[in-house]
Amino acid sequence: MPENTSDPQQPRAGLSRETLVVSAGRPAAEHDAPVNPPIHLSSTFHGAGPILPSDRAYGRFTNPTWEELESVIGRLEGTELPALLYGSGMAAVSAVLEQVPVGSVIVMPEHTYLGTMSLARQMQDRGISRLVEVPVEDTDAVIRTLTEQARSLPEPAGPDAEAPYVLLWAESPTNPMMEVADLPALLAAARGLGVHTAVDNTFATPMAQRPLRWGADYVVHSATKYLAGHSDVILGAVVTADAELRRRALAKRSLAGGIAGPFEAWLGLRGIRTLALRVRQATANAQVLAERLSEHPAIAAVRYPGLPGDRGHERAKAQMDGFGSVLSVTLHADAATTEAFVSAVRLWTPATSLGGVESLIERRRRHANEARTVSESLVRLSVGIEDVEDLWADLVQALESVSR
Ligand SMILES: Cc1ncc(COP(=O)(O)O)c(C=O)c1O
Repeated sequence: MPENTSDPQQPRAGLSRETLVVSAGRPAAEHDAPVNPPIHLSSTFHGAGPILPSDRAYGRFTNPTWEELESVIGRLEGTELPALLYGSGMAAVSAVLEQVPVGSVIVMPEHTYLGTMSLARQMQDRGISRLVEVPVEDTDAVIRTLTEQARSLPEPAGPDAEAPYVLLWAESPTNPMMEVADLPALLAAARGLGVHTAVDNTFATPMAQRPLRWGADYVVHSATKYLAGHSDVILGAVVTADAELRRRALAKRSLAGGIAGPFEAWLGLRGIRTLALRVRQATANAQVLAERLSEHPAIAAVRYPGLPGDRGHERAKAQMDGFGSVLSVTLHADAATTEAFVSAVRLWTPATSLGGVESLIERRRRHANEARTVSESLVRLSVGIEDVEDLWADLVQALESVSR
């Protein structure tokens, strides 16, 4: 994937993201220095006298092992400002959502990740902000909502209180419906309206999509998924190209303490080295499986933006480098038969989550709080890097076993 040189925020023109994942975040190239950073197990750092912003000082503020991974994620997203690492994707999501001043409005796609949506609902229940759900594929409808909400914001909660704002929270593709938002158009419109913006880029990964270049204030990741990539660690990240936003988020992280362990950060760094290869292989596998599944008589519908007939195809082609490796299929079957299909796989792993090297499969309505607009017979596939023929054969035998 050659670097997009028209992107003003791309670091070091000439270095592709395939190279960055391997070469960034390394110790200084000195004689006999280690090639890989060590794991820094230290809760505090030497120091006396006034603490300067550049000081590490204490292990809740930073850790050298985080810093290596933070620099890789920041550069992949197209900024020289290092990302901020968190103890989970949800800690990263909270870091952005919980910043909204009292009276703010959070606008989210109807099929936002369940945890994020639940957090926004709880904030509404606590009287902090309102939640407005939008059909994210309908660009005009989203912009209309942003315009209306931006016009009707209340006064600040008190004389010293921060003014409320509208936050557009975007996910594209969405989970599990694989809807594609017109991110360049939405982010441009939001900017014009003074609406703050955050994009959860977990599904697409920075290999396929870099929302900062379209003006997103924040990009958020569940680094648990593709970035770490081996289903062995829970991690999150927030990225911004705005130094003031980063300073505020760092101050909040240092105080709130939702930090990552150094060992987890090291695993994340170890995992991200192969991000480009993993994403490429998994995306190629997903394309083949989506095409074959859409021809299979047991399947009623497939949502994957890589399919030319998919509603999001043209949009995804214009704004993404590759279509990702999650797809959803709806079976011609009821919930029980769909569960039986999921249980009949032998190579795929029935489990929640996505973005690991191994292929995972899940009927989404097993989650009690999954949106009612998601069919009882919808199955989400997170396609891994195994041989695609083995993956296909396993799906076929599982479909056959429940069609008899
Ligand atoms: C799109 C998305 N965002 C955020 C999260 C939360 O991440 P974590 O599980 O690392 O807290 C998830 C988890 O599934 C997710 O799929």
